[in-house]
Amino acid sequence: MCGITAFSGKGPALPFLMQGLSKLEYRGYDSAGVTTIENSGLKTVKCKGRLAQLETKLEDYHLEGHVGIGHTRWATHGIPSHLNSHPHTNGDETISLVHNGIIENYKELKDELLEHGYHFHSETDSEVVVLLLDYYYQGDMLEATRKVIERIEGSYALCIITTHEPDQIIVVKKDSPLIIGKCDGAYVAASDIPALLEYTKDVYFLDDYEIAVLKTDSITFLNKNFRTIKKELVTVPYDLEAAKKDGYDTFMLKEIFEQPHVIQETLRGRIQDETIKLDELDNIDFKQFNKVHFVACGTAYHASLCGAHILEHLIKVPVFKDVASEYRYNDPVIDEKTLCIFVSQSGETADTLAALRLAKSKGATTIAVANVLGSTISRDADYVLYTCAGPEIAVASTKAYTTQLVLLILFAYYVAQQFGHVDLKAIHELKDLPNLVQKILGDIDSFEQFASLLEHQRDAYFIGRGLDYTSVLEGALKLKEVSYIHADAYVAGELKHGPIALIEEGSIVIAVATQPHIAAKTMSNIQETIARGAEVILITNSLNPPIDARYTYVLPYVSPILQTILVAIPLQLMAYFAANIKGCDVDKPRNLAKSVTVE
Ligand code: M6R
Repeated sequence: MCGITAFSGKGPALPFLMQGLSKLEYRGYDSAGVTTIENSGLKTVKCKGRLAQLETKLEDYHLEGHVGIGHTRWATHGIPSHLNSHPHTNGDETISLVHNGIIENYKELKDELLEHGYHFHSETDSEVVVLLLDYYYQGDMLEATRKVIERIEGSYALCIITTHEPDQIIVVKKDSPLIIGKCDGAYVAASDIPALLEYTKDVYFLDDYEIAVLKTDSITFLNKNFRTIKKELVTVPYDLEAAKKDGYDTFMLKEIFEQPHVIQETLRGRIQDETIKLDELDNIDFKQFNKVHFVACGTAYHASLCGAHILEHLIKVPVFKDVASEYRYNDPVIDEKTLCIFVSQSGETADTLAALRLAKSKGATTIAVANVLGSTISRDADYVLYTCAGPEIAVASTKAYTTQLVLLILFAYYVAQQFGHVDLKAIHELKDLPNLVQKILGDIDSFEQFASLLEHQRDAYFIGRGLDYTSVLEGALKLKEVSYIHADAYVAGELKHGPIALIEEGSIVIAVATQPHIAAKTMSNIQETIARGAEVILITNSLNPPIDARYTYVLPYVSPILQTILVAIPLQLMAYFAANIKGCDVDKPRNLAKSVTVE
């Protein structure tokens, strides 16, 4: 989704704005732009396309202003174009702003402004905001902002600059991320932490409706009622190195290889003396709940399916799972005896956030499983458990997924302890996971070879049963999002109820069979596809699989519950290599955004 940067400081704003936008590229965008306040007034440079094009265009300008804002746009209202790209300015070019989010009542506001004689140059909802500021401005931009906030509905992170008050940036947010950084001689803002790290690790997290006024050497925070408030300065534990490629060609590959380390980090301190310790949840009596809901989107949803399956199996309490965009409109049965778990890498996904707010409004106890410290979902939930994946830059989620699996398994065992259930074998094996993942990564050549089968395929069929089905759902998502090969995942037992009609000579079937109690059944289903001419890539933990699949990878054998974590690695690497052979932009797949902050 859109990325925002803003700088008010002693030096020129442009270097910060541009490096920040490049760190936010992973969010997905189709146009980019900046505005700085120069001696001659506002200077806005923007264009459709990538940041490199903006950089070329900037060579013809000499932007030296000390206050500025930057933006990468992911089109929602209006096609990707020069005119629709941000920043947007008012008619006499005295006010400029960047916006992330969606102004839901923009049509009605636009009609009103048209009646007042305003002209629009873009098709965006954001231009309404800058013209509304112009309409309300009577010598005090903060007061104009207050009036605008009263009028706009929807989600927004806004950074506003004006030549009338040239030494400041007004920043305000609702349901859209915006983080402020304190640097030596500057205050800066951005949509995500990696954009700040080269300059500072000291940040303020804005809450919804809060406003900040950034100047070179001071910052003022106001609450919803425009009263001055104090905010805590937090030092984030990320380092810049973690947000760089470290010699890998892509962030996706780098992040796949970081998994042994980040799994170790996620486990750290959480297993002590054969007991799972999640101090964050110590105040919860889990026996009070009569049902549990897991809610998430995309990859986080797949991790939730696995977590839900394991939790239900261990505590025998009904566990429901839903994708967030459905949950909020399905009138789910939620009350004070419901425990709701929201899983989100970014902690900013709009649907997951809305689902969380719905659950809270109905009295549920809510737990967030998030990766980004201080993100909205992590702050809004009653309790939060953090995965320790570090910044995940590639759009395709890899290390966030496996750390979510690890944390959800720890969570399930933690809850099960309260129910008197302890699985010492699995607890011991958890500690060995980083080594096992490392070992599988050592077999990277096999996965590259398997992926070469996919190069000229239009379709791929993933099959599995039970927990293996949750794994193949994720495997299929990974393959389609980075390689654009159409991939679907099926419960292996469902094949003969329809999908097997698609299997023909040369079809590729990727089968996962790691769950001992149902592996034999999956093997029979695999056999059925081989009989119809399919080429099968089999991921199993069985040393002597009873089928004749030419492409077989045997995983280390661990407790069935933990097997999902190991299965993820071959599936991620196959998706990666398939995309790579096809020359796809692995880190930034078309049409996708890293953090989906609109509905
Ligand atoms: O930040 P979140 O975990 O809430 O994001 C959810 C999905 O948008 C995300 O997992 C998406 O499916 C990834 N592109 C998958 O690789």
